[in-house]
Amino acid sequence: MEIHGAKSINGEINIPGDKSVSHRSIILSSLINSNVVVENFLFCQDCIKTLNILRILGVKIERLNGSLIVYGRGIKNFREPDTILDAGNSGTTIRIMSGVLSSTNFISVLNGDKSINSRPMGRIIKPLSKMGAIIYGRENNTKAPIVIFGNPGLEGKKLELEVSSAQVKSCILMAAINAKGTTEVISPSISRDHTERMLEYFGADISYDGKYAKLVPGRKLSAKRIYVPGDISSAAYFIVATLILKNSHTIIKDVGINPTRSYIIDALKKMGGKIIVRNKKVLNNEPIADIETFSSRLKCIEIEKEKMPVIIDDIPVLCAAAAFAEGNTIIRGAGELRYKESDRIKSIVSQFGKLNVDIEEKKDGMIIRGNEGFIACEGTVDSFGDHRIAMALSILALMSKGSVTILNSGCINTSFPGFKYNLKEALN
Ligand code: S3P
Repeated sequence: MEIHGAKSINGEINIPGDKSVSHRSIILSSLINSNVVVENFLFCQDCIKTLNILRILGVKIERLNGSLIVYGRGIKNFREPDTILDAGNSGTTIRIMSGVLSSTNFISVLNGDKSINSRPMGRIIKPLSKMGAIIYGRENNTKAPIVIFGNPGLEGKKLELEVSSAQVKSCILMAAINAKGTTEVISPSISRDHTERMLEYFGADISYDGKYAKLVPGRKLSAKRIYVPGDISSAAYFIVATLILKNSHTIIKDVGINPTRSYIIDALKKMGGKIIVRNKKVLNNEPIADIETFSSRLKCIEIEKEKMPVIIDDIPVLCAAAAFAEGNTIIRGAGELRYKESDRIKSIVSQFGKLNVDIEEKKDGMIIRGNEGFIACEGTVDSFGDHRIAMALSILALMSKGSVTILNSGCINTSFPGFKYNLKEALN
């Protein structure tokens, strides 16, 4: 992908549905006994992996005028897969589906691409095993491929997580739906709570506050309709583009502003970003709003460890904003970035550096020495197959005098297939 320097960005921008909510919408609908219409589902590579796996497991899912109808019939009607289940590049698919598959009565094998098969899976295998799951992984039960001998007799447990991870928490909650007894999950800090909100919307006996979740199984779950909010992490690229380009003004409608996801907005506002959140409403238990952004002068910020899980996916684009912010932006306690689709600390530091950003790698984060007049240099950078790195680099490249080539940019399709088109349309 080749990006040229731009003058401004303006107008109303369409952002696709939220990736995390899309995965959960079809998984949870499969586990209940209802026909659920999912509107604004994100048809990206990651969510399509989840969709394909559910279909292989016998769940009927139809497409109707851009929406999906999930004919949920519960886990008892899942059928044993006759093939290896492929999660591709999707951490959410492999981790959440492991929880679901643990309480079936058949054998399944989950595999992923090179990146997924190098990411930590012990964090799901350990707690699921405590609930009675019979689950194994490569390298002493720490990596995928994962083999699961389904056990319909899982037991609810009180589990304390070592890292705050919504994927791990959600994996446990999926297993807990069909377990005997109550499950409690305690996390070191708040992580996204889409699973808890959707379970509550479906009528589950659940209490939660982001750090703690308690599910008492047994209630009949049902739902008719889910509207997937716009993805705030996808919106963030356009919000930052608007802030850094002169004479710019954009509006993004119906964006999910769940407080366990929206810290990027608070952080950019603290940096001096003129961002107005309008028309707040709640749809299927998720808060949404319109986000209006204007060109702004930015100043540096410090992001601390406890905020990390609620901004984690947006750190690459925040680093792009920091390059244009006066002073030293300090990001700490972000060690989890090393276990994402790429080692994001290394990817950001090495590739942003190539574009002239004054950035220093730390064990658990980075320091960016920004300035208002920053101009990216021309050149070629690599996304390392990581969608969020590719998109953050494109935003940085908008402030180059010439053109920037981003290698391996096809990975953007894992979360935002229309990104390139939407960006081109909105730029002047
Ligand atoms: C996600 C949780 C986060 C996030 C990922 C999506 C989810 O991962 O980085 O992009 O949908 O639950 P962790 O659970 O590993 O923090």
